[in-house]
Amino acid sequence: MDSADIVIVGSGHGGAQAAIALRQAGHDAPILMLSRDRTPPYERPPLSKEYLAGEKPLERILIRPEAFWAERAIAIRLGTNVTEVDWLAHELVTGDGARIGYRKLIWAGGGDARRLSCPGSDCEGLHTVRHRRDVDALRAELDAGARRAVVVGGGYIGLEAAAVLRKFGCEVTLLEMQPRLLSRVAGETLSAFFLEEHRRQGVDMRLDTGVERIEHDGRRVTGVTTSNGETILADIVIVGIGIVAGVGPLIAAGAAGTNGVDVDEFCRTSLDDVYAVGDCAAHANAFAGGAVIRLESVQNAHDMAACVARGIMGDPQPYHATPWFWSNQYELRLQTVGLSLDHDAEIIRGSPEERSFSVVYLREGKVIALDCVNRTRDYAQGRKLVEAQAVIDPDLLAESETNLKDML
Ligand code: NAI
Repeated sequence: MDSADIVIVGSGHGGAQAAIALRQAGHDAPILMLSRDRTPPYERPPLSKEYLAGEKPLERILIRPEAFWAERAIAIRLGTNVTEVDWLAHELVTGDGARIGYRKLIWAGGGDARRLSCPGSDCEGLHTVRHRRDVDALRAELDAGARRAVVVGGGYIGLEAAAVLRKFGCEVTLLEMQPRLLSRVAGETLSAFFLEEHRRQGVDMRLDTGVERIEHDGRRVTGVTTSNGETILADIVIVGIGIVAGVGPLIAAGAAGTNGVDVDEFCRTSLDDVYAVGDCAAHANAFAGGAVIRLESVQNAHDMAACVARGIMGDPQPYHATPWFWSNQYELRLQTVGLSLDHDAEIIRGSPEERSFSVVYLREGKVIALDCVNRTRDYAQGRKLVEAQAVIDPDLLAESETNLKDML
């Protein structure tokens, strides 16, 4: 039977960074990374941006050059599905029935793109954007002449994909079932701003609109019938309706968790010697007022991986990392710090009309997050306000010429 001191399941940002952080901390026993993916670790944020746009090839989105992993004695087994965790024996079972032993297991299983489950949703021409192969398949259809696109979901995947498709000259209709865009992650000012920007760029934006069924010719998609009964013709459909956490084998093994897998402040699951990091790890987050959440971001994956590496190396420190995030659409660069969850006030600095503004989110008078559009200085300086949960006069916060760093 194969075995390694550390086995990492998943080769996304969390899995890759866990291996890197362990080696940086001086860990020198065997590390084995298992992944269903067939490509060495690559960055995901560019998938819906520069990689989809064809502006960055695969080599430029690899987390490390391919040779790096072998040089650090980090073994990677791609195309491998882990189907079972036998935590009592400290062994995993893979799709081909092989058993692999471990001393410590780091689960970085991420998630799979949620799919539509309406009539017709299994026909050809529907795409998700989660893995490199998803985007390659989408690119191939665009290259073959697909021009009419329906995007389902007004989260960051949907919005970024819509922006790239407009760049390609596609006709784009976007359907969002909620009354506003980005309702899971941002406040109303930002939702309204992106709605207006996408309309200005020629995207047909439909709110309060879901999918009734996918129309097809027996094989391929031909259109989307919306919840309002209208049929929109389409050559391709891009589905960005969130993710389902990839934790099946852990939960089946008895790990605690309902939405993802539960972890404590050291990213330990309820199973001995099993850690979890990244999109799939439900944790109490101080920046969410202590609420148990899954945070789907590169920042969270990296910082949790670092936390686990410290724990394994005998220097445990509780996970407490400031959330940050970014999105690029058209000429707009959005940078977010903190979590705007449960905010009760939004203060605007600068000018949405001039496409340079920030939204400062308050909860009970404290600064909890900022969304900054083309205002990197606010983003950099706002971080300290978020970390301090600063209480600042809202009129002062709105003074866009006054530096945030001078307000503390
Ligand atoms: P999401 O959960 O953030 O947004 C999904 C949207 O789809 C929601 O607004 C929801 O109301 C809507 N929706 C759900 N079902 C629907 C339906 N049947 N019809 C119409 N609308 C429907 O998920 P998304 O955008 O798929 O992104 C997945 C993950 O990837 C997120 O965590 C996101 O933040 C992350 N991501 C990160 C990026 C970055 O680093 N900049 C870029 C893109 C995505």
